[in-house]
Amino acid sequence: MSKTVGYAVVGLGVGKAHARAAAKAKGCRLVAVCDIVKSKADDMAAELNCEAIYDYDELLKRSDIDVVSICTPSGMHSDMIVKAAEAGKHVLVEKPLDITLEKIDAAIEACRKHNVKLGAIFQNRLNPASQAIKEAITTGALGRTYLANVQVKWWRTQEYYEKDGGWRGTWAMDGGGSLMNQSVHTIDLLQWFMGPVKSVFAFTDIFAHDIETEDAAVAVVRFESGAIGSIIGTTAAYPGLDTTVQIHGENGTIYMTDAKIQRWAIRGPREKEVEAEMIARFAGKGDAASADPSGIATTGHAGQVQDMVNAILEDRDPVIVGSEARHAVEIILAIYESARTGKEVFLKK
Ligand SMILES: NC(=O)c1ccc[n+]([C@@H]2O[C@H](COP(=O)([O-])OP(=O)(O)OC[C@H]3O[C@@H](n4cnc5c(N)ncnc54)[C@H](O)[C@@H]3O)[C@@H](O)[C@H]2O)c1
Repeated sequence: MSKTVGYAVVGLGVGKAHARAAAKAKGCRLVAVCDIVKSKADDMAAELNCEAIYDYDELLKRSDIDVVSICTPSGMHSDMIVKAAEAGKHVLVEKPLDITLEKIDAAIEACRKHNVKLGAIFQNRLNPASQAIKEAITTGALGRTYLANVQVKWWRTQEYYEKDGGWRGTWAMDGGGSLMNQSVHTIDLLQWFMGPVKSVFAFTDIFAHDIETEDAAVAVVRFESGAIGSIIGTTAAYPGLDTTVQIHGENGTIYMTDAKIQRWAIRGPREKEVEAEMIARFAGKGDAASADPSGIATTGHAGQVQDMVNAILEDRDPVIVGSEARHAVEIILAIYESARTGKEVFLKK
């Protein structure tokens, strides 16, 4: 491996953020961008001074490409990962890793077999506020955590579901609705903070859109640790509210909206001062995607693209590996099963 990683991006919706990040990343050369829509590839290639490729199989034949960011519709991810692994390319894949556990496992296995790295995007884990919460839990500062809830009350128009070929809100390509597409980030944070989920019970429905999949879901959760929690995820909450994470433990409460700390009330001698410091330190707005899909913050993407390049250069795992990205999808699929069957669904150990 040379000292410069050859980068390519396939799928140029959110993939534009990957391409722009790769063009700026240290130790990296953006070789090509790829989209079946020729104009998308041409425009991006012109902006970033790289090659435009219109056929993914052609991209995989290139020996100067070491890693591919896969940013196509969700139901295509695993097949494209398997092909990349077979061609000896490392992969950074957009969320969700894919939309079934069988496909996710096939992708993870192909990368293992062909000895390539599989990194997965969950950019909200890289937010400084998320990192601080994770640390407060792992160091025991919050004490035993026993209650947590997340709310992703967003708004999406009908037009949002109909554009770009209409893949969003379909079972075949989106794999679900407001949970699998939008809330998956926050469900990942919930399980990252609270540990593995044991079981779920849920209701889902479609209220404000003409789509196949849910646009509203409510689930109650039991964690392996014994803690309990809840998830509300919707794209039917006009005009869209801030994403909320609230965690309660023996020593107090942490409350975050988007990437902003609202409360950091952990019992101790300097409780009020520490809370004021944390609120001031983590006042960032983070993700503003509650009403506008283009409002997704891309600093986390840039961080994950740079991390992927570094992982290749340093021959280590990327910050979020495939098996980590599997958890949120497993939880969401259990929620769908519960909503379908009317029963509490237990996740496999
Ligand atoms: N991390 C985030 O915040 C974030 C934000 C948006 C989307 N996403 C994820 O990224 C993925 C793409 O979503 P999007 O909103 O960018 O969708 P999009 O429809 O805007 O873009 C997908 C692109 O893939 C292209 N494409 C489809 N099939 C292809 C093929 N065979 N070869 C090459 N190009 C092909 C399409 O032409 C399109 O330009 C989804 O999995 C989605 O969940 C993640």
